[in-house]
Amino acid sequence: TVYQDYFFDEPAYNTHDGGYIPLEVADAPAQPLAIPALVQPDSETDTDAYYTLTAQKGETQLLPGAKTKTWGYNAPLLGTTFAFKVGKHIHITLKNELDELTTFHWHGLAVSGPYVDGGCHAPVYPGESKQIDFTLDQPAATTWLHAHPCPSTAEQVWHGLAAMVIVHDDHELNLPIPHDYGVDDIPLVLQDRRFHEDNQWDYHADYDPDGVQGPTAMINGTINPYFDVTRQKIRFRILDGANRREWRLHFSDDLEFTQIASDSSLLPEPVQLTHLMLTCAERAEIIVDFKGYKPGDTVTLYSDDVPIVTFKIHEFAADDRVLPDHLLEIHAPKVLPTTPVRKVVMSGMDEAVALDGKKFNMQRIDATQPIGLAQYWDVSNTNTMHGGMVHPFHVHGTQFLVISRNGGAPYPNEHGYKDTVGVNPGETVRILVRFDLPGVYMYHCHIIEHEDGGMMAQIQSYDPNRPMPKYKLMDMGTL
Ligand code: C2O
Ligand code: CU
Ligand code: CU
Repeated sequence: TVYQDYFFDEPAYNTHDGGYIPLEVADAPAQPLAIPALVQPDSETDTDAYYTLTAQKGETQLLPGAKTKTWGYNAPLLGTTFAFKVGKHIHITLKNELDELTTFHWHGLAVSGPYVDGGCHAPVYPGESKQIDFTLDQPAATTWLHAHPCPSTAEQVWHGLAAMVIVHDDHELNLPIPHDYGVDDIPLVLQDRRFHEDNQWDYHADYDPDGVQGPTAMINGTINPYFDVTRQKIRFRILDGANRREWRLHFSDDLEFTQIASDSSLLPEPVQLTHLMLTCAERAEIIVDFKGYKPGDTVTLYSDDVPIVTFKIHEFAADDRVLPDHLLEIHAPKVLPTTPVRKVVMSGMDEAVALDGKKFNMQRIDATQPIGLAQYWDVSNTNTMHGGMVHPFHVHGTQFLVISRNGGAPYPNEHGYKDTVGVNPGETVRILVRFDLPGVYMYHCHIIEHEDGGMMAQIQSYDPNRPMPKYKLMDMGTL
């Protein structure tokens, strides 16, 4: 089967929201797509790797004329790409060269909370630095890094604090799929911005409590990008790194592509698609086969009907590698009949957003769950189709499975591990959640303004055989 639709409920697309800002083609020359450099470790042994990660300010030539003031990680805008191998002991020095507090959140990494995870309880103050270390034990995945200080996550991400983080394992490295970063293994960080006077961004001028948007697509920090295709098959690691925008992706000629991974792992089986919708913070890895094209041809990637990347086809060698029918074994953990279903309710719009009827409070632990115990979470969106929105629901510190949507099957491309799932208005999505590491973890809507607006809560996972640890939690007042 080749799926030809976006799966999500059409009346729930963000295009129907009153505040929606459609994308427009920027009045700017085409630019080569920026490919963020891979971060090089400061030093490395067989077992350990040491890195420095600096949140910094800079300027970027995004449009002709004045440079735009931007923020980034080890770079003026967005960041360099980390690639971690599971099992390696990673040490990172986090440095804050901004004028305000920030945090370094590893969205999708299985690391302990709340300090290594880098949510709001792990501040790094201006001019200071901090050390973290972790060893990953999780499937290969495309994850990301972003700022997460409450309640200014959205503004810091808008300034540019977001970068891709790739996790490799031997299984994925041995699959017959593209692995050549920057050549046939390509990050695509999808964002949107509005440019004001002198090509600057103005978060406050554009503020919308339902999520800040702009009419100009920015891909890897490039406006109007093109990419030179020099291999028959290209693997794209696509991240919805926008504050609120959904991306409805499709290629010219309704070119078919194969999704091989979602947020937190490969899919159990590859899925053939012509259309793909991503909600905020979701990732998809797809393989596009350009076999039918010849040098000089172009292929366009669209979101809705707006071109966002142009692919220029060059000479390439034939690639007849065949994807296996089976990519990954998924072991769904057993749920004990005595374990209750946890209910999570996302409600409201604008300033009225809430989680379980409450606004986020950094000092309040909203729920607890023993490590190693699998529990169903029924996550509902009480918005209605009339002006409601899809809320992308994210949980830190876990790789969950999507079990059902309103009691029916999940979408065909959400059978792998995930950490973010779009919940339609009026829908209840059942996910299967297990924490393997103790800590305090946030869970929230990933429309970042909804999160900053309080549609967020936190859970403490704990080892039932030990005394409950007490974590030092930040307070809004201490920002
Ligand atoms: Cu992408 Cu709370 O995170
Ligand atoms: Cu996260
Ligand atoms: Cu939301």
